[in-house]
Amino acid sequence: MKTIQAQSNSSQTRGEDFLPLQGTDYVEFYVGNAKQAAHYYKTAFGFQSLAYAGPETGIKDKVSYAIRQNKLTFVLTTPLRNANPIADHIYKHGDGVKALALRVDDANSAWKETTKRGARSWLEPVELSDSEGKVVMSGIHTYGDTVHLFIERKNYEGAFMPGYKKWESNYNPTDTGLMYVDHCVGNVGWNQMNRWVKFYEEVMGFRNILSFDDNDISTEYSALMSKVMSNGNGFVKFPINEPAEGKKKSQVEEYLDYYNGEGCQHVALATNNIIETVKALSSRGLEFLTVPSSYYDELFDRVGKIDEDLKPLSELGILVDRDDEGYLLQIFSKPVEDRPTLFYEIIQRKGAKSFGKGNFKALFEAIEREQEKRGNL
Ligand code: FE2
Repeated sequence: MKTIQAQSNSSQTRGEDFLPLQGTDYVEFYVGNAKQAAHYYKTAFGFQSLAYAGPETGIKDKVSYAIRQNKLTFVLTTPLRNANPIADHIYKHGDGVKALALRVDDANSAWKETTKRGARSWLEPVELSDSEGKVVMSGIHTYGDTVHLFIERKNYEGAFMPGYKKWESNYNPTDTGLMYVDHCVGNVGWNQMNRWVKFYEEVMGFRNILSFDDNDISTEYSALMSKVMSNGNGFVKFPINEPAEGKKKSQVEEYLDYYNGEGCQHVALATNNIIETVKALSSRGLEFLTVPSSYYDELFDRVGKIDEDLKPLSELGILVDRDDEGYLLQIFSKPVEDRPTLFYEIIQRKGAKSFGKGNFKALFEAIEREQEKRGNL
């Protein structure tokens, strides 16, 4: 078992942060039908309507719905015509994450500092304004067709962004206690992990805080390797997965096949009460991976004393792991579209800053059972 903690790179040891990040601003998805996707996320996840952009607000070629729950904002975007890069993205990948948007104090500087270090520009800094103020945004490419946007909104008072109007809806389902993005995981191709680790280190000033090799993460059949990249203040964490050779097809390889390339595998959403959140999500139709009941037989021997009762955890299939700083509770959804690509993790941290290594075996065996049903193992 090789777990490498707290490696530092040169920019960290110099104590500079050329790309100060305040956290995730929003996650934008390109989807085939944003109106229905927004309804799904409101219904199943408990998001609220926030803002709308489309022909009625002067945007001619696409429609976007912004939805929010606590500090968590999703944007669902669909093209209105087929000769359009958004339509091409959906044709190639199916529904998926296009942009991981990061909140910055200065979107001009974020773009300059990252492109100077080798980032490929996706969006040169642009200032958007309306009667509520201004937002500056810029963007760079990351793995696959995924991009990072830098969002500077300190001078904006409106609902979401210029170009959007407040979205008032008669349908306002209660929330499910989801709070913010804990981390977003990218799946990259064979032999590509170190390339992207280097990208996050050199271009964005992140550091590699944890590494898992195929000895940590191999079950009977499928294997993967993973490195967790974090920005300086730890608000933004991007684990990167690469498939590894196993007896049969790695879950990362299945993703790469169906997404038709590299992309975001899962978004982990934080809650302060995982039992209540998972009960609510399940009752609204979100499906989770389950582990055999034997997982819970020796749980307390493995993780020690925890605040939660065993019964609701085992009934819901919530996993527990402990590290030096505390413990965490987590559960993984099944893919939320028909392609076996994007899924969600629900996570509650009680001190632990790690990612649930003790659960990898049970979790990956659960994923393999699903792959087997799809005929993809
Ligand atoms: Fe995760």
